[in-house]
Amino acid sequence: MTNAKIPIVIAHRGASGYRPEHTLAAYELAINLGADYIEPDLVSTKDGVLIARHENEISQTTDVASHGEFAHLQTAKIVDGEVKTGWFTEDFTITEIKTLRAKERIPQLRSANIKYDGVWEIPTLQEIIDLAKNQNSALGRNIGIYPETKHPTYFQSIGLPLEDTLIGNLEANGYQGANAPVFIQSFEVSNLQYLAKKTDLPLVQLINLTGKPYDFIVSDETLAYADLTAKSGLEEIAKYAQAIGIHKDILVPRDSTGKLQSPTTLVHDAHAVGLEVHVWTFRNEDYFLPLDFQGNPQKEYELFFNLGIDGVFSDFADHAVAVRDRIIHTAEK
Ligand code: G3P
Ligand code: CA
Repeated sequence: MTNAKIPIVIAHRGASGYRPEHTLAAYELAINLGADYIEPDLVSTKDGVLIARHENEISQTTDVASHGEFAHLQTAKIVDGEVKTGWFTEDFTITEIKTLRAKERIPQLRSANIKYDGVWEIPTLQEIIDLAKNQNSALGRNIGIYPETKHPTYFQSIGLPLEDTLIGNLEANGYQGANAPVFIQSFEVSNLQYLAKKTDLPLVQLINLTGKPYDFIVSDETLAYADLTAKSGLEEIAKYAQAIGIHKDILVPRDSTGKLQSPTTLVHDAHAVGLEVHVWTFRNEDYFLPLDFQGNPQKEYELFFNLGIDGVFSDFADHAVAVRDRIIHTAEK
């Protein structure tokens, strides 16, 4: 660890290595495993309630397909330029969403989580905030919320914009100002620029390994994600955001066989313009690990923490916390 600040551990979709993602049980376990922030991806219901799902199409992570009363809502839509078929949150009221139950997204890799299929509801942002606040009171901690606006251009296009609702929810719960335990993230640019004018809460520009922000595609902007990591791109981001949230392969590229290459200068370059660097996504399974670290996920955390990053998104918050704290204690000796 090369910077003085202690890196944060962000529970990616909750403790999603151990529980179906985006459930209160997943978030509560993540808090108990030591996460500093819990991460809800947010989409909207028909009546404008923000709920935690990674996509607005919910057949992969809920039991909606087995609810005959919603069969008529199955449809195909174009979301972010891709045809999606299934059931979409914007076609359900919050009352209807609450009759659904979550299920494990990747049962082939996380078979231990299948036993929880059908147990837990789809949580609202408000319920997630309530959980964090209750846990803060009970545990004497200051667990933060790290919400992501999912498909922001799409939700604007159907009259259910996420941004003002999100800020309203956060402010109504006392989250205000640059020091609040909140980071608001987006893979798009223009909605973060809009948010920067509306709030002082910290903002995070997400940067994917390939492709372009979807709002750039819509507006015919020529810049792609790769351009955002150049020094000029980082300078632009620093005008509206406080951090970048990057795919880990951008910082430490892998070759075509999955072996790690030399790190880029991105941490240095981002810090030079005042941006924190948060990296996603750390997972224990060999399927996700580089060839170099098969069976050894702690080595991946060590590598990245020692590059001076400011935070990790992890499905296994306990592993991230353990490695971080060991590195800190070793440095203090
Ligand atoms: O939000 C950044 C991190 O969560 C990775 O993205 O696709 O899991 O929401 P995603
Ligand atoms: Ca996310």
